[in-house]
Amino acid sequence: EKGGFATFMDKEIHDQPTAVADTLRGRVDENGRLRLDEGLIDEYVLKSIDKIIVVACGTASYAGLVARYAIEHWTRIPVEVDLAHEFRYRDPVVNIKTLVVAISQSGETMDTIMAVRHAQQQGATVIGIVNTQGSTIAREADAVLYTRAGPEIAVASTKAFLAQITASYLLGIFLAELRGNKFPDEIAALLSELDAMPAKIQRVLDTAEPIRVVARSMADEHTVLFLGRHVGFPVALEGALKLKELAYIHAEGFAAGELKHGPIALVEQDKPVFVIVPSPHGPESLHAKVLSNVQEVRARGARTLVIAVEGDEEAARHADEIFYVPDAPVLMTPLLSVIPLQIFAHELASAKGFDVDQPRNLAKSVTVE
Ligand code: F6R
Repeated sequence: EKGGFATFMDKEIHDQPTAVADTLRGRVDENGRLRLDEGLIDEYVLKSIDKIIVVACGTASYAGLVARYAIEHWTRIPVEVDLAHEFRYRDPVVNIKTLVVAISQSGETMDTIMAVRHAQQQGATVIGIVNTQGSTIAREADAVLYTRAGPEIAVASTKAFLAQITASYLLGIFLAELRGNKFPDEIAALLSELDAMPAKIQRVLDTAEPIRVVARSMADEHTVLFLGRHVGFPVALEGALKLKELAYIHAEGFAAGELKHGPIALVEQDKPVFVIVPSPHGPESLHAKVLSNVQEVRARGARTLVIAVEGDEEAARHADEIFYVPDAPVLMTPLLSVIPLQIFAHELASAKGFDVDQPRNLAKSVTVE
């Protein structure tokens, strides 16, 4: 059932092109409108919402952080992302004009369930982005958009993460269309950018050998840092989480712009620092800013492990190790740049002899608060 792979996690990493393609399949009707899977939300309600709050935990919350960049950009609706366990206790401003999006692979994470219930009590509308059919969040939400990643067995989330980003993007595109933020041709262009992703994800998987080799050489590291800006920031957080949970190595993800505000003090000779470098064809100055962050840490002795897009020779000049992913519109890039980081954590943990599918102290679904 591992399909020839040594671990469920490795299989699930390789399932990712399919997970994204399946999550996209058949979603849009002839009028360009999104099909939700279960439950109906009045279009009037969706037209009148003035705020979106994503509630989720762990990796699912990082999918929410990625989605925030896209949904705000496309819809101009303010988006907050709350850890579900913090949400209830901060007395959040929630009312009938709030759309709460609960993201959960299992649909059984107790903190996320409690956040959904709290939001509904305040009159909010709740959409679940859930992987497990018939799970508690799927049943309790006002509507569901299923991620069709298939069962995720490994404790560490991989394909569910990509599917969560994909489904959140569909929701953002749907809202942009419904609320008139985008012309039909712009909506069609976004959907075709998404449709192009499974093949690009496959390409990342097909060219992943260099990251495996580097990972296997790093079993004795004690700390690894991850830097990203814009959508690369949540990718950095996810890369760090994967490494902590699988390899039991201290890892931290930072917004690259925060470096000078503290974290750069951690950089010392030979310290490995991953940097997610955005496409040079993306928003002006994003690429240059991140490259200057690479130079800053390297000047202080860091060993720079750079994820960059194919053809970015400038990035290669500042990298001790470079890992290429295909170029894509910036909002689509998390679906690619996170994959080398998943593989890195998997390989490093395997090299240390750890059980990557069942890391110590962790359960697949956290059903207690
Ligand atoms: C990390 C991981 C966890 C889950 C989190 C939420 O690899 O798997 O951080 O993402 O526990 O779980 P769900 O999505 O089931 O609510």
